[in-house]
Amino acid sequence: MKPCNISVHDQLANLPFTPSPMTSIKLNELELDLRRRLSPVLDSGVQLTVVGTIESTNAQLKTEAVTSNQTLLLAHEQTAGVGRRGSPWQSPPAGNLYLSYCVHSDRPLNELSLWSLGVTVAVANALERELSLECKIKWPNDLYLQGMKVGGVLLETVNLPGDDVAVVIGVGLNIASHPDPTLLQRPVTCISKHTDKSVDLSMAAAVVSVALVDMCRLSHASLQAWLTSSWPSRDLLLNQPVLVPTLGEGLVIARGLSHDGGLQVEFAGKIRTVYAGEVSLGHVDTQ
Ligand code: BTN
Repeated sequence: MKPCNISVHDQLANLPFTPSPMTSIKLNELELDLRRRLSPVLDSGVQLTVVGTIESTNAQLKTEAVTSNQTLLLAHEQTAGVGRRGSPWQSPPAGNLYLSYCVHSDRPLNELSLWSLGVTVAVANALERELSLECKIKWPNDLYLQGMKVGGVLLETVNLPGDDVAVVIGVGLNIASHPDPTLLQRPVTCISKHTDKSVDLSMAAAVVSVALVDMCRLSHASLQAWLTSSWPSRDLLLNQPVLVPTLGEGLVIARGLSHDGGLQVEFAGKIRTVYAGEVSLGHVDTQ
């Protein structure tokens, strides 16, 4: 998402319904329902916290990183939600998913760098499985439905005493509403516009939580193999002309994922790998 100064008032003015802060009774209902859906995951040692309003679920888990191993945090609203590259993530109390998971790991950073791709694929697979939605991914972490962004993943790490790191993985998904695309200046959508099935927050949170926890438990070799096989069918950019500002002018064609999670592109007759920065697809703007 591009840095922008859209106020919560602007966002709410564009919603098709009047959002409301959650009463504590509704919050309790949500938490109970989610605990029921997640009972096998919770039985395996994962903690769950559900809150009404918070600045940012990622920021909160980073603050509590030392004590939050295997903790899921779900919020109804974020007042300072964060997207990739420090951009704001609009998070009104409008039925959307704001979820983070913190897990401690002793794996090297080059292995962990595949996790954010893994989570993005796992969430895309879950949306397809549960809701029959054809979900594409714009490298590295943007979830798309029919050419419009529907969600994103933000992975952050905190160094712990010793060699371990706390990995905090945040997932934002537009379920019942989305920001005004003209204000964001890029195409955006929400899940409810693409399915007749009713999608409640508890169901979406459960599906995404399981996807997150399961992905983090894969061995590096399994994750690599799984990404290699699943990425091509999810890749929104595959074989498309893309804009890569770091490569300057000239035709650049996206050619899929490298073994270490970069984006392979063909430029001036050679394959190069891009690891960071903005890559955009003609009319499909980046965040
Ligand atoms: C992106 O820029 O596409 C990533 C967006 C990630 C947003 C989620 S919402 C839950 C978690 N808490 C945050 O502050 N950000 C992430």
